[in-house]
Amino acid sequence: MEKTVLLICGSLRERSLNRQAGEYVASLLEGKVRSRWLDYAGLPFMNQDIEFPTPPAVQRVRDEVAAADAVWLFSPEYNHGIPGVLKNCLDWLSRPVERGSQATAMQGKLALFSCAGGGAKARYCAADLAETLSFLQADLVETVHAQVALDRQDYATDVLTLADGEQAALQAQAAILLDRLA
Ligand SMILES: Cc1cc2nc3c(=O)[nH]c(=O)nc-3n(C[C@H](O)[C@H](O)[C@H](O)COP(=O)(O)O)c2cc1C
Repeated sequence: MEKTVLLICGSLRERSLNRQAGEYVASLLEGKVRSRWLDYAGLPFMNQDIEFPTPPAVQRVRDEVAAADAVWLFSPEYNHGIPGVLKNCLDWLSRPVERGSQATAMQGKLALFSCAGGGAKARYCAADLAETLSFLQADLVETVHAQVALDRQDYATDVLTLADGEQAALQAQAAILLDRLA
């Protein structure tokens, strides 16, 4: 059966440069595995008072993650950390799928990430993602996570231009993922 990679963007804006990095990856994966974007914009804020019964929007996101063979996150950093919307999504994914259970949607899930950001190439977000995904017991692909530098032109046009080295890094990640999924 064809494998599925769930793409998760840490930015909700329509013209997200990170989403464009993900679209480039989707083009690399095309014809080899299926890929689709996770829509998690409708998640409520994590609040243990509303954890059970599981809110329908949370259930849908968990079901999509469960159905995927791998997740690939693309994220900017906000104030040297993971954007709140993405962290909120990961927080929901970190919690038991039902009351009293130990199982979560992310345990053992093949995961990788790439980050596009300003001068520091979102390295703080990348470090946080590595920490959080490990804590969630995801099966984090051991690779150099591609970090994309956004420059003035990217910001001014909202069109991402990937340097050769950045394309190569994303291609290398895709190759490792495809190898793991084979
Ligand atoms: C709230 C906020 C905080 C930001 N903090 C950082 C930061 O710490 N480091 C950085 O490189 N860029 C930062 N930026 C700029 C983002 O890198 C830039 O807006 C980028 O285009 C966002 O990613 P996107 O295009 O995928 O939406 C921040 C942007 C916002 C909106």
